[in-house]
Amino acid sequence: MMKVLVVGSGGREHALAWRLQRDGAEVHVAPGNGGTGAVATNHAVSATDVDAQVALAKELAVDLVVVGPEAPLVAGLVDALADAGIAAFGPTGEAARLEGSKIFSKELMDAAGVPTAGFRIFDDPDAAEAYCRDAGRPLVVKADGLAAGKGVIVAKTADEAVAGIDTIMREKAFGDAGARVLIEETLVGPEVSYHVLCSGEAYVPLAAAQDHKRLGDGDVGPNTGGMGAYSPPPMVTAEVEAAIRAQVVEPTLKAMVERGTPFRGVLFIGLMVVDGAPQVLEYNVRFGDPECEALMARFEGNLAETLLAAAKGELASVDPQWGAPASLCVVLASEGYPGSYPKGRAITGVDAANAFEGVTVFQAGTRMEGEHLVTAGGRVLTVTAVGASIDEAAARAYEAADAIHFEGRQLRRDIGWQARKG
Ligand code: AMP
Ligand code: GLY
Repeated sequence: MMKVLVVGSGGREHALAWRLQRDGAEVHVAPGNGGTGAVATNHAVSATDVDAQVALAKELAVDLVVVGPEAPLVAGLVDALADAGIAAFGPTGEAARLEGSKIFSKELMDAAGVPTAGFRIFDDPDAAEAYCRDAGRPLVVKADGLAAGKGVIVAKTADEAVAGIDTIMREKAFGDAGARVLIEETLVGPEVSYHVLCSGEAYVPLAAAQDHKRLGDGDVGPNTGGMGAYSPPPMVTAEVEAAIRAQVVEPTLKAMVERGTPFRGVLFIGLMVVDGAPQVLEYNVRFGDPECEALMARFEGNLAETLLAAAKGELASVDPQWGAPASLCVVLASEGYPGSYPKGRAITGVDAANAFEGVTVFQAGTRMEGEHLVTAGGRVLTVTAVGASIDEAAARAYEAADAIHFEGRQLRRDIGWQARKG
């Protein structure tokens, strides 16, 4: 039996652990959450404590470590595991710069001819401010480094752009991550999430998905980590997919090999489809959350073997299949999210929701308090359903979501709107 350690504590990690366990692996999660304990053994080790994660992997003598979030990847967890002789799914710290530095990734796109919005780089807030004031058009301001999904300001006016520069560069809300900013042209079009398993220049695409980043119905309100996702999105036609592969995936992987930092793991490309052509918004060096939940619900085959093969660079043997024609997931978030939120509120109805046909509830910001499940994070649960169509998956996910209660629960009612007919 394969023994796997999943690093992280979100809905993504619960979905990976659930799928690995279904495939017959012995699964451990560190640190995990209130739901992962049902499919795996939780270990109270922080995801970003590289030394402690390596020690745990050694102690458990796992065959594979699957690293969920970006921070430990950027911190070099996969390098440290390799030094200890442990197979790990995920990129090295150097290759993880594709997500760890937006300026690095933008310069790589530019050099490799990957389509993306026009941009300027600033290390001086006064110069950045002057540029935004002179531009007279909407711009997007991005902190260079990791900012837990909060370092991007899509500014409609110069004042909004300057407020973003203040937060990032003058108030240093994200510390060193905001020492430099990227100021981009604004693109308009549907967004898609495209995931590929990679090893050097070899790659295997996974099914496409679409996330919903804004808090409110109709894509309004503040950006979040993602309020729901579905797969497959209709705007990723065969033509769009061919363009993504030829214009984005292949030149990106080739450029990484040429720099001496080949990418191994899952590359999740955030794209906008502008007039039928893909434009890259960002690279991520891990599975999206909640995209991963939507993908794992459809994935057929042995995930442990697939990820181990990818980790070893043996992609030729990998051929993921997609069982259910469609999947859709809805995030239930805490009151106040994406701002500050209360913790410790009692959650009821998860078992009832899980009993609906085609439904699996993945847990994120939860923990067990004795016998009781309580909220412990901003995004609390990801209610995921498969179906014959996006409409069917949506109907099932919402029926199940409505069986779950906790005080102040927030959810979007329109996940999948770009694909729903009903
Ligand atoms: P990022 O973390 O770079 O993907 O940005 C977060 C979100 O900001 C994206 O999912 C988009 O919704 C939005 N965004 C980023 N870059 C642009 C852009 N150039 N034009 C329009 N929206 C953008
Ligand atoms: N759902 C978007 C992300 O994981 O970055």
